[in-house]
Amino acid sequence: MPVDYRSQTVLLTGASSGIGAAFARALAVRGANLVLVARRADRLASIADELRRTADVRIEVVPTDLSSPAAPTEIRRVVAERGVEVTSLINNAAIGSFALFADVDPTQSTAEVAVDVMAPVALTAAFMPQLTGAGNGFIINLASVSAYFPTPRMAVYSAAKAFMLSFTESLWTELRGTGLTVFAVAPGATGTDFTAGMGPDAAVLTAGKVRAAEDVVATALRHLELRDPGPIVVDGGGNRLGVLVSRFVSRRRAALMMARVFDPARRPPSRTPG
Ligand SMILES: NC(=O)c1ccc[n+]([C@@H]2O[C@H](COP(=O)([O-])OP(=O)(O)OC[C@H]3O[C@@H](n4cnc5c(N)ncnc54)[C@H](OP(=O)(O)O)[C@@H]3O)[C@@H](O)[C@H]2O)c1
Repeated sequence: MPVDYRSQTVLLTGASSGIGAAFARALAVRGANLVLVARRADRLASIADELRRTADVRIEVVPTDLSSPAAPTEIRRVVAERGVEVTSLINNAAIGSFALFADVDPTQSTAEVAVDVMAPVALTAAFMPQLTGAGNGFIINLASVSAYFPTPRMAVYSAAKAFMLSFTESLWTELRGTGLTVFAVAPGATGTDFTAGMGPDAAVLTAGKVRAAEDVVATALRHLELRDPGPIVVDGGGNRLGVLVSRFVSRRRAALMMARVFDPARRPPSRTPG
């Protein structure tokens, strides 16, 4: 169904790089107003400047650390103070680590839960009255193909993404017929900064086929424009095949298979994301 982007004001988290920045550009070109959230204020400011120059849209920037439990209510306060009515939400910001759980700093593991799970839930709750009130908005939650598999060395991250998948499916049923469209996007390996800072072992994550951030966004917006979008869209044919395979193997086999795939000792890094 055609989406009236010009009537939208989209609150977009993780807008300072990767898939979030690609969402910002694609939505601004279509005429949507944006509220951009991430920690790096300089990156947000430069993306906002670019979008204001190239599109006739209102861009607000709210630099925020989403690992703070107070962040969602603070964002809502700032947005209200500026007189912005949010109609749509994209929960895109996330962090991850790549190491055996026992080797990950406990504060990193809990930060992953805070940013990848707590913040999207709290933001969705904080803005729900505005989102349902708008009558034609959308919520897009970034999941991952790793939501479909137990993912050794990314135990907290893949569990967080499985949460996002299930959370979104439930909201999808609850909000059917309200005019508020809800779905999750599940990308596979995508060429962004996501693995930067995860150490050399994380190169296995991008050793195979890597999609572009713009591909993920195109998949999401195509799905949004369907007459009756389903609760999940998986980006890319290879990733859809992987998800299909996950339905036919036991959880035991899937966990052991993923442990082999993500064992840095077995797969020397061969490619950098692009
Ligand atoms: N890249 C992949 O292979 C891949 C695969 C599957 C799913 N995904 C999902 O796609 C989404 C986007 O990731 P990406 O690949 O585009 O990675 P990215 O380039 O690293 O972008 C992550 C974004 O999240 C923001 N962020 C991180 N921690 C934050 C915090 N504490 N508070 C506020 N913002 C925070 C970052 O901004 P600041 O650093 O400025 O705060 C950045 O804008 C994530 O949900 C990720 O799980 C990615």
